[in-house]
Amino acid sequence: MTRIVIFIASPKHYNCMKIILFLSLTLGVCSAFLPDDELTKSIARGKDIYAENCVTCHMGAGEGVAGTFPPLAKSDYLLKTPEKALKAIKFGQQGKIVVNGVSYEGMMPNPGLDNEEIADVMNYIQNSFGNSNKTLVTAKIVETIKQKE
Ligand code: HEC
Repeated sequence: MTRIVIFIASPKHYNCMKIILFLSLTLGVCSAFLPDDELTKSIARGKDIYAENCVTCHMGAGEGVAGTFPPLAKSDYLLKTPEKALKAIKFGQQGKIVVNGVSYEGMMPNPGLDNEEIADVMNYIQNSFGNSNKTLVTAKIVETIKQKE
């Protein structure tokens, strides 16, 4: 719209139009970097993956089920040792783990996701339920996670 207006503007409005042109270009360039960044897109994809593969055990607010399914919300395991959390999501998790001071000895089956989906769901859980970790997890990082330490 702005660009069409510029062509039909009379010369006495020329300076004003130059300013509008400048502003519209600046805003256009800035908006390219704002809401659509990689992390935001990955989190959006991860939300659907969570709803399909995780919510039945870890629940809608990531609160888990006391004593059975550990929480993801404010989980020290997830936020302090993200590589271990990635391992659980990539291969499943069995055996004793401690989350926020509570011991669990359950079994999480391998969700069977590909590296891209694991990265997306990880970006989602790290930035939902009150959690925040702005480090972008990529499929490349997931690829480097091995089952044995
Ligand atoms: C069938 C139930 C079930 C499903 C489905 C499931 N989990 Fe789990 N999850 C568990 C259990 C049980 C543990 C703890 C296992 C243990 O005690 O060793 C766990 C542990 C975890 C942990 C590490 C501990 C923590 O709370 O921070 C993360 C992270 C995690 N799950 C994420 C996910 C994600 C993401 C998905 C979906 C892709 C998922 N889980 C699907 C049951 C499940």
